[in-house]
Amino acid sequence: MTQQQLRIIVPPHPLIQHWLGVARDVATPSVLFRSAITELGRWLTYEAARDWLPTQEISVQTPLAACPATFINPNIPVAVVPILRAGLGLLEGAQGVLPLASIYHFGLVRNEETLEPTCYLNNLPEKFAPFTRVLITEPMLATGGSIMAVMAELTQRGVDPALTRIVSVIVAPPALQKLAAVYPGLIVYTATIDEILNDHGYIVPGLGDAGDRIFGT
Ligand code: URA
Repeated sequence: MTQQQLRIIVPPHPLIQHWLGVARDVATPSVLFRSAITELGRWLTYEAARDWLPTQEISVQTPLAACPATFINPNIPVAVVPILRAGLGLLEGAQGVLPLASIYHFGLVRNEETLEPTCYLNNLPEKFAPFTRVLITEPMLATGGSIMAVMAELTQRGVDPALTRIVSVIVAPPALQKLAAVYPGLIVYTATIDEILNDHGYIVPGLGDAGDRIFGT
């Protein structure tokens, strides 16, 4: 049966909770904030890879006998799409888990008055191969403008939302509602859900501007 609802998974993992706490703390300096986001990228991607990475069964020969073994299927492409800037912070950890994935950068800048995103970099291929697994990295799902823009570009290029995973540090209801209305097969992995956005579209309590804190700007 196909999944009918957006799923939001908050893995109950002490490492994820720990690094979220470090990232939230305003006293955390940029260098440690970057480490926290890298670690969150690693552990959230690890969780997202469960039931998503395609595997195949092959027989191997141990020193003692033949034995069935499960490997990642190298014939099914895996892609990571970091949404620039802040999505770059999650990329190193995601790549540690998915070392063979192709990386397609997608750059969006938010207009601070309208809160609408404008694309300044689109490295996506014209068409993705069928069954490509796509993992999007975006630390904050707030108003949903950026993630909806990226999902529209991906699905126009043949990506199946049911084979897509979003890795995000903090998500908020406005973005989740928009995703749920259009992409019911999608799964979001996040460290937490915060309920409130302020008038500038920032998540409260959140962690502030993820891009500024990652890059020290
Ligand atoms: N982007 C951020 O960096 N922080 C927020 O709280 C919302 C969007």
